[in-house]
Amino acid sequence: METVLLAGGAGYIGSHTAVELLNSGYEVVVVDNYYNSCPESIKRVEQITGKTVKLYEGDVKDHSIIRTIFKENKIDCVIHFAGLKAVGESVAKPILYYRNNIDTTLTLLECMEEAGVENIIFSSSATVYGEENPVPYNEDMKKGSCTNPYGWTKSMMEQILTDATVANKNLSLVLLRYFNPIGAHESGMIGEDPQGIPNNLMPYVAQVAVGRREQLTIFGNDYPTPDGTCRRDYIHVVDLAKGHVKAVEYALAHKGVEIINLGTGTPYSVTEIVESFEKSTGVEIKHVYGDRRPGDLPESYADADKAWKLLGWKAEKSLEDMCRDTWNWQSKNPNGYEK
Ligand code: NAD
Ligand code: UD1
Repeated sequence: METVLLAGGAGYIGSHTAVELLNSGYEVVVVDNYYNSCPESIKRVEQITGKTVKLYEGDVKDHSIIRTIFKENKIDCVIHFAGLKAVGESVAKPILYYRNNIDTTLTLLECMEEAGVENIIFSSSATVYGEENPVPYNEDMKKGSCTNPYGWTKSMMEQILTDATVANKNLSLVLLRYFNPIGAHESGMIGEDPQGIPNNLMPYVAQVAVGRREQLTIFGNDYPTPDGTCRRDYIHVVDLAKGHVKAVEYALAHKGVEIINLGTGTPYSVTEIVESFEKSTGVEIKHVYGDRRPGDLPESYADADKAWKLLGWKAEKSLEDMCRDTWNWQSKNPNGYEK
């Protein structure tokens, strides 16, 4: 069976993808520097699946570790998750973000070329559609202007990877544009474990539920949406992980570049998320309304047709599943992995 290298595979999406790849019969190799994760997540992946993962600790910017991995393993496909992703931090520390996100990509491409590895899947984001495009976003739209350095790194990395694939006809590249991944594996053994105060909605809601934060502030209720709060395309992380398995199959069988949205196509408002979480868990989420957060768009959701047509993949889990599984993970691991 083929072997997939997960760069940044100990993180939230990488660990869930590792489970789905192992369950589909792939061998999995992970490299991570634990900047935003810990090896415990991979131990738990092994417990969930009963299979082993070959784990390397190292920086994906570093050619020597990637060369070693390509020498010691026959890698058929790389999935590049290794990025920094906190929007606010990227505004404060843009150089750190450009250095880490761009350099990891260049190092992977250089080492892939040396070793003859021809397939790569990239973790991009709906953020690249920018402010100009109308919802629902489809893959034929021109990319827009991002509101922060994190978003620009994604947009630039898409360009770098595309240029490399156009120049090398042996390469296969799938750019996956994620919408808003939430939820956790149904076992409650792996999940999202943000450092410090969560920036994103669902981890914040979960920490209010478990008593780590007093209340949620809903950023703005005067948007031009049905209830005045922003609407997003929340997708269960296990559905997202299964989309990666399909993307690997696709990359192994084709050449060239494909851009694919991974979303459900159905938006929910912040208020609907709070209500759904309360309903599916029975836990009250204390909340107040505050100012809009700079850079937020009123609505972001996918046209999810291409993923279905090209990969035969669509999201299957409901918002209730997303809330219930988030709570299962958070209540079993109130302080995350406790690194
Ligand atoms: P995460 O922070 O949990 O995972 C990223 C992993 O990469 C972490 O384990 C981190 O330690 C590792 N890493 C970062 N820089 C590294 C380096 N130089 N060398 C080695 N390891 C490194 O984040 P995630 O939510 O799992 O996201 C995975 C990818 O998907 C990221 O590229 C992120 O930007 C992208 N993405 C995430 C979301 C989201 O909402 N979670 C949305 C769109 C895109
Ligand atoms: C954000 C990033 C996006 C990134 C994604 C995943 C911005 C502008 N966008 O998406 O680039 O790809 O995370 O990392 O930061 N909300 C609250 N209260 C909170 C937290 C969030 O009301 O405490 C609201 C937000 O205003 C938004 C919604 O919840 O309307 C979702 O927010 P979030 O989870 O941060 O995701 P995005 O902003 O969609």
